[in-house]
Amino acid sequence: MPASSAVRSLTPVMPAAARLRRPASVHAVADLSLRAFTVEDVRLLARVDSEFEQFGVKSPLRPPPACQWAEPGALVVVEGEVVLGDVSWYRPTHGPGEGSRTFGIGIGLLPTARGRGVGTWAQRELVRLIFLHTPVNRVEAGTDVTNLPEQRALGKAGFTREGVLRGAQWRLGSWHDMVLFSRLRADPEPSPTDQRFPCHK
Ligand SMILES: CC(C)(COP(=O)(O)OP(=O)(O)OC[C@H]1O[C@@H](n2cnc3c(N)ncnc32)[C@H](O)[C@@H]1OP(=O)(O)O)[C@@H](O)C(=O)NCCC(=O)NCCS
Repeated sequence: MPASSAVRSLTPVMPAAARLRRPASVHAVADLSLRAFTVEDVRLLARVDSEFEQFGVKSPLRPPPACQWAEPGALVVVEGEVVLGDVSWYRPTHGPGEGSRTFGIGIGLLPTARGRGVGTWAQRELVRLIFLHTPVNRVEAGTDVTNLPEQRALGKAGFTREGVLRGAQWRLGSWHDMVLFSRLRADPEPSPTDQRFPCHK
């Protein structure tokens, strides 16, 4: 199915019973879930305001695909029906052949949603879904060396810090060093949650 029809066929907000709940520990955040994008989400999440999210002009109105692991895609992070941000993925490769392809993930939360454990939950949940629905062995995430909240959130989501990629990202008019983190399939899962993928009702 083409990406556009896959997205159109998705229910904008998952029924309550299908929501993926965050374990009630550390932070008082409940009823979190990941779901497919709508056009309204694209407009709202253009307001994610962070120096770490400034990559210039991008095409604003087409929702990214949610159910195709082969290509880049994204899901919206919601608390109940309130949109908090998004998680996304792309497919870096470390050599020839499908076995060398990994997943790279990213996240952006609206300013009001930060610092409550949402970023930790959402990235942990996306990794769980990737390992559940694909045979990939490795998920990686890079963040600016100065982005301490994201480094901390990745650590709490079960990622291991691997090292610094020098001058790896052009952003806001200069090159930035990035810290690379990864989780392997065999790494310990921080905690079990619901087994459903947001596209599979
Ligand atoms: C980075 C981001 C995804 C993290 O999500 P979040 O929900 O705010 O993170 P969490 O609340 O799960 O965890 C953040 C942790 O960082 C810690 N932290 C916050 N500011 C910190 C700082 N200046 N120094 C060190 N640690 C810090 C918090 O205390 C928390 O750890 P704790 O639970 O042990 O106390 C979110 O803040 C965001 O979207 N920021 C803007 C966009 C962005 O940076 N995206 C990532 C680009 S790679």
